Amino acid sequence: RTIMGNSKAYIFIRKCSIMASIPVQKTMAPKAKPTDSTKLGFGNFFTDHMFLMNYDEGEGWHNPRIVPYGNLSLDPAAMCLHYGQEVFEGMKAYRTPEGKVVLFRPDKNMARLNLSNDRLCIPPIDEAFAVEAVKQLVALDQDWIPSGEGTALYIRPFIIAVDPHVGVHPAHHLLFIVILSPVGAYYPEGINPVRIYVERKYVRAVRGGMGFVKTAGNYAASLKAQDVAEAEGYTQVLWLDGVERKYIEEVGTMNVFFKIGGEIITPELQGSILGGITRMSCIELLRSWGYTVTERRLALDEVVAAAKNGTLDEAFGTGTAAVISPIGELKVDDDKIVINHGEIGEVAQRLYTTLTDIQNGRAADPFGWVVPVE
Ligand code: COI
Repeated sequence: RTIMGNSKAYIFIRKCSIMASIPVQKTMAPKAKPTDSTKLGFGNFFTDHMFLMNYDEGEGWHNPRIVPYGNLSLDPAAMCLHYGQEVFEGMKAYRTPEGKVVLFRPDKNMARLNLSNDRLCIPPIDEAFAVEAVKQLVALDQDWIPSGEGTALYIRPFIIAVDPHVGVHPAHHLLFIVILSPVGAYYPEGINPVRIYVERKYVRAVRGGMGFVKTAGNYAASLKAQDVAEAEGYTQVLWLDGVERKYIEEVGTMNVFFKIGGEIITPELQGSILGGITRMSCIELLRSWGYTVTERRLALDEVVAAAKNGTLDEAFGTGTAAVISPIGELKVDDDKIVINHGEIGEVAQRLYTTLTDIQNGRAADPFGWVVPVE
């Protein structure tokens, strides 16, 4: 398998990067846009267009195009439907007070997409071209960017294996798709603290598995525990490591941070945890504010002990969809640990405000994270 297929395809993709012009077929039937941004929820509405690009062995990635949003036609034997050869990303577009449309660190998403591609035996994409494709799609559907606190246009790039074949092998034919969805808060709680259930029975991922990449299987593995947690009135689960069931990994759709005695601790990226871009940005922000942030193994017992001796000041999750989500309660077996009186902590609040102000162009962008689409 060649990395980009043949050199003609490679040259074509490079040319696309340089020319940055993607053929567009506009919809003849634009949809009505949601009118009430407080009722968007997450992932319920989709815009008028989508981006598509094919991979065929021997040709590489080719035929990039923007077309009206609509159903895909797939062979029922398409490999993604059987063995989960799929990867995805999550990013957001925002409209600034000056009316400009911006993305947040899109290069990091596309770099992570290639990390996921590598793990799932999917040929790498040209990252700069993929960012360009997202920019052109978002620019076309920019009227779908919602206004209202906590809203954004969620961008979902993903790649699926489409060979009609039910043998277990890496695919030779794939489809790269980008769809857009105007969203509100991921959790109904918004920035209010969530209640989290510590999962003892099921595990999400193990080292050597796929936990560090964004692929459907990781989320399929999470559904059962999520169901149990929700039935007990909890928003998400907190995963422990899959071997010793002792160390904290991540929370549902987020990375997780704990502030214990002045130090901010987040589990290190050791192979089973997703390297979140919001996680990375929070670490950079916190360090720039003078906090000590440690990435290390963190035992659940250490968090429970800190809660008991009064040194657990705050806990919060971070993610593109969820942004910053304070944790107000942890259910550990039969114990309910209330954190910071169930209220938003100072650090979580400052991170939320700073990050969303930078992302929405309401504050200066000292790190150069925000990228205009046009
Ligand atoms: C994101 O935060 O963008 C994610 O991908 C989480 C998603 C599963 C909703």
